[in-house]
Amino acid sequence: MTTGIAVQEGFLEGEDPERGLMDKIVIEGGRPLSGVVRLSGAKNAALPLMAASLLTDQPLVLDGVPRLADIATMSALLAQHGVAVDHQPGDPVTNGGARLSLTAARIADTTAPYDLVRKMRASVLVLGPLVARCGEARVSLPGGCAIGARPVDLHLSGLEQLGATIDLDGGYIHARAPHGLKGATIVFPKVSVGATENLLMAAALAEGETVLVNAAREPEIGDLAACLTAMGARIEGIGSDRLTVQGRPALGGATHRVVVDRIETGTFAMAAAITGGKLELIGARPAHVEAMITVLGEAGIAFQETEDGLTVDAGGARPLGVDVMTEPFPGFPTDLQAQFMALMCVAEGASMITETIFENRFMHVPELARMGANINIHGHTALVRGVPQLTGAPVMATDLRASISLVMAGLAARGETVLNRVYHLDRGYERVEEKLAACGAAIRRVREG
Ligand code: UD1
Repeated sequence: MTTGIAVQEGFLEGEDPERGLMDKIVIEGGRPLSGVVRLSGAKNAALPLMAASLLTDQPLVLDGVPRLADIATMSALLAQHGVAVDHQPGDPVTNGGARLSLTAARIADTTAPYDLVRKMRASVLVLGPLVARCGEARVSLPGGCAIGARPVDLHLSGLEQLGATIDLDGGYIHARAPHGLKGATIVFPKVSVGATENLLMAAALAEGETVLVNAAREPEIGDLAACLTAMGARIEGIGSDRLTVQGRPALGGATHRVVVDRIETGTFAMAAAITGGKLELIGARPAHVEAMITVLGEAGIAFQETEDGLTVDAGGARPLGVDVMTEPFPGFPTDLQAQFMALMCVAEGASMITETIFENRFMHVPELARMGANINIHGHTALVRGVPQLTGAPVMATDLRASISLVMAGLAARGETVLNRVYHLDRGYERVEEKLAACGAAIRRVREG
């Protein structure tokens, strides 16, 4: 535990975010899910929104912030930069999420230390706002993350095009723009969510016009753009792959509600499907999960829009095998690939799943195989031959989305599944075992140590 995280005690109700390292999740499978799930605010929207607080000396108030380890890490990082972080817990009944007030009246320190950055790759999102506001930033390269292997090259070359000088020194990115950033046209050679967000924030305080071409279109970027607009930024093309920003000398405060989590939406839809169950997903935004609805529809899962969101109904049947390829939004998201693979493990027929966004994102495969799944990997493609029934087993979480895919497999399996290293799950899913248990799952967290 670092002192940085201690700053945020209370956000996770006094828990150390790494505490989940010692927790296990125990699932007794075979019960169809049934009921209502209130979806949380999106982690991947909340993180850049929090970083945007660095752009102004006025308070930025965010509602609907999920209670997650990554949010605590970002709060600790912002506190280290001198941001006053005030947290009011949300109402657990309505699941309205927490209210975070972030005030960067003065930036006390422009360094994002290794200690915090290594916990979360999204820490690099402070780079653009800090350089834009202070003319300087030092941000550690994320742990195990060298430029070239898991690069941030698009973030850096974009900032260079806005006039910053970048040096790499002692594991740190040192960006300088003593006379401020200047607008430019940046053509991304590859679609990157994080680079689009970093450059959008930087451009909001740059002098003149910036055009981001081949920008990512994920709904989290639309959410950030909406919040920046409320702070006084001038942005055109929101929702498209071409964003035009007229830089302003200063931005002001705003109050903004974090968009509902489309990945949590898809995850619960697939959890319903893998158990043959039926759920109502309160707060779901169908337009944000169109690709998922299309693919699951082909697999025989029924969806219905409701006043409050979306219902998903598997009608007690096994899904049909369907092929999928991950793509940037509006394509099928890489963050739902592991969950979809778990679903296809029990499909009637076979499914070819191709991962095009990240290189090493099949780490859940050996664990699913331990539960009886039949999966063969060929390069970036996994061939899943559905089996009628998975069997429970002790399994190990390797990353966030892999962890939840193993929980889903456990919900469908015969017998007991024990998921170790729950820490990964706590990074991205708010109260997941409570939400699943409320819909009839036999799932509990076991705390050891
Ligand atoms: C974000 C999401 C993550 C999701 C991913 C893709 C957050 C906090 N995380 O991550 O959950 O899986 O989008 O939807 O929102 N790349 C480069 N150079 C760069 C940056 C990225 O080559 O400078 C590559 C990456 O290695 C990857 C691809 O581009 O192969 C997409 O990455 P990117 O969209 O940047 O992902 P993140 O923003 O890190």
